[in-house]
Amino acid sequence: MSEDRYLTFALGKGRLANKTMELFEQIGITCEEMKDKNSRKLIFVNEESKFRFFLAKGPDVPTYVEYGAADIGIVGRDTILEENRNVYEVLDLGYGNCRMCVCGPASALELLKHHERIRVASKYPNIAKDYFYNKKHQTVDIIKLNGSVELGPLVELSDVIVDIVETGSTLRENGLEVLEEICPLSARMIVNPVSMQMESERIKELVNRLRRQLVI
Ligand code: PRP
Repeated sequence: MSEDRYLTFALGKGRLANKTMELFEQIGITCEEMKDKNSRKLIFVNEESKFRFFLAKGPDVPTYVEYGAADIGIVGRDTILEENRNVYEVLDLGYGNCRMCVCGPASALELLKHHERIRVASKYPNIAKDYFYNKKHQTVDIIKLNGSVELGPLVELSDVIVDIVETGSTLRENGLEVLEEICPLSARMIVNPVSMQMESERIKELVNRLRRQLVI
């Protein structure tokens, strides 16, 4: 495909996008406009490399990529697993490292052990469902929350939660602990399947440059 076409990137807003732009800078792709914290602009262009970046809510990144509105997305593995979109995962960027875990008060360990029908609160109902139904073969009731999930067991909405644990301080400060680990997480690069074919040279070259930078 023509070198004139922009390669479009959807970045999960926030820390992940900042880390990603730092990494791109290290391989010589800068986007000065994006550094202006007061700007409400959503799309940023690097004319030299013909790259276009936009910021989106994390869970929407795989959607933009599946539909081809973005060729490439950078998003956490948690979101990729939860959204389960038709995209290729091509690179582990090695930052945003954390774990998806079942957490709760220590007393909930017995409920897990005995496969009791418990209530599980989570921002990630699909991950929770897959873990309990397909991996543990335990029937549970899943309650979808949108944040501050640790409240679940504290106010007796649920017995346990399925959530991201990074430093563990949110759990500690609320008297909760990791009861079971589901999987490790980090930032990943995803690609639209059609872009992968049509732009294979540019995408492969970019992935190789990033890979080289990541091992330094
Ligand atoms: C995430 C996650 C935990 C917390 C874990 O929440 O859902 O609550 O971070 O981090 P820690 O182990 O370092 O304490 P986030 O801050 O994204 O906000 P949310 O609870 O509103 O989803």
